[in-house]
Amino acid sequence: MAPISFPKGFLWGIASASYQIEGGWNEDGKGESVWDRFSHTPGKIKRGDTGDVACDFYHRYADDIGLMAELGLNAARISLSWPRIMPAGKGAVNQKGLDFYRRVVDEMLARNIQPWVTLYHWDLPQTLEDAGGWPNRDLAEYFRDYAGVVADALGDRVKHWMAFNEPWIFTILGYHLGIHAPGRHDIGDAIKATHTVNLAQGMAIKAIRESKNRPEAVGTAFSMSPVHPETGSLEDRTAAERWHRFYNKWFLDTVMHGKYPEAYLNGSVEDHVEIRAGDMDLIKAPLDFIGINLYTRAVVAHDSSDRYMGVKQVRPGGEEVTEFGWEVYPQALSEMILHVTKDYPGIPIYVTENGCSYGDGPGADGKVNDQRRVSFLRRFIAEVGHAMKAGADVRGYFLWTFTDNFEWAEGFQQRFGIVHCDFKTQRRIVKESGHWYARLARSGALDFDPVI
Ligand code: FCB
Repeated sequence: MAPISFPKGFLWGIASASYQIEGGWNEDGKGESVWDRFSHTPGKIKRGDTGDVACDFYHRYADDIGLMAELGLNAARISLSWPRIMPAGKGAVNQKGLDFYRRVVDEMLARNIQPWVTLYHWDLPQTLEDAGGWPNRDLAEYFRDYAGVVADALGDRVKHWMAFNEPWIFTILGYHLGIHAPGRHDIGDAIKATHTVNLAQGMAIKAIRESKNRPEAVGTAFSMSPVHPETGSLEDRTAAERWHRFYNKWFLDTVMHGKYPEAYLNGSVEDHVEIRAGDMDLIKAPLDFIGINLYTRAVVAHDSSDRYMGVKQVRPGGEEVTEFGWEVYPQALSEMILHVTKDYPGIPIYVTENGCSYGDGPGADGKVNDQRRVSFLRRFIAEVGHAMKAGADVRGYFLWTFTDNFEWAEGFQQRFGIVHCDFKTQRRIVKESGHWYARLARSGALDFDPVI
């Protein structure tokens, strides 16, 4: 099989998130976030892990960015901690927080690494959770104001922005399933939260565009998976379509078209979501690019006992899984990219997250020989190439993630990095996958045949 060549200028980056790597949880005036509170609550995180120190990126950012440059990466996705910048979520700005991100971004620019900045990767200021959290509509305005502050402060250096990381995940897992901060269990509140986040997304994007520095592109990084029906029955196929609308398009049709997709089994969206006059105009703010975070596919079946979408998730049949238990299904990536290409023609696509968890550590020779990760990446990245060949306008790939880090409710047990991190000593070792990715980033040629 001939190597797959990616175009010149294609971005080869990594993706990360503030709470998962920074540490410095209460330094230099930072306010408490919902993830600080959640991880400090016994029983919420496996083995009682917290992000208090994590990868200590707050102090080691220069070395880590240096290592990214050594590997030949030309872009990096980071997120900003809202409570580091606005400790109470609104009002006073913490200059030291802004200065930290300025230093980080300057370090990247000095090394020819393009900063791609997400405003919100889940670390809500705790004070705003105390005021009701995302179900409280007022948060949309606070988020817009925060977006304006950071775009004014960093927009001379940062040209590529994402409003949210995976809005579906933090609203549903945070407010309905209770697995993520703030750990609530109320489906009505979760749906309210999705509407506030949709409002916040549209309003923040406009605020970035109207800030004193012109952005080049503003988008969001969505959690996405192609949805497959368990069987070929009409019931399962329509269930899969409903789940696709809810999971993949709930925050995307809204921002692109000012319209919620019809995803409910009973009744229409208006029966379930309180939409006030003017809301859909605030929400609509067509994106300059669509960010796809993708790890696997979803398989679903019709389930009439679920009175909302009438859907249940089913364990996919594939035998190969990562250590997280997620099925390794590479075609999911090309399928999703082509889906987005068809539904939102003319909008550039970036893979804003893709990667896998395998726990390989240093062997006797000191090397981390994570061949399963190399195999995973090779196959998924080949699917990006296939989608491009079929006409998709994909412009970059951000691998999740650089250093192993704090994996939310799983704590430090799930290792997604291409750089091994010893959380006791903070020593970094570039894994074999990191060297492999460096070769790909330098050459732009995926010169390995998918073997497995
Ligand atoms: C995504 C998150 C990211 C990381 C990966 C494994 O859902 O955006 O923070 O946890 O999963």
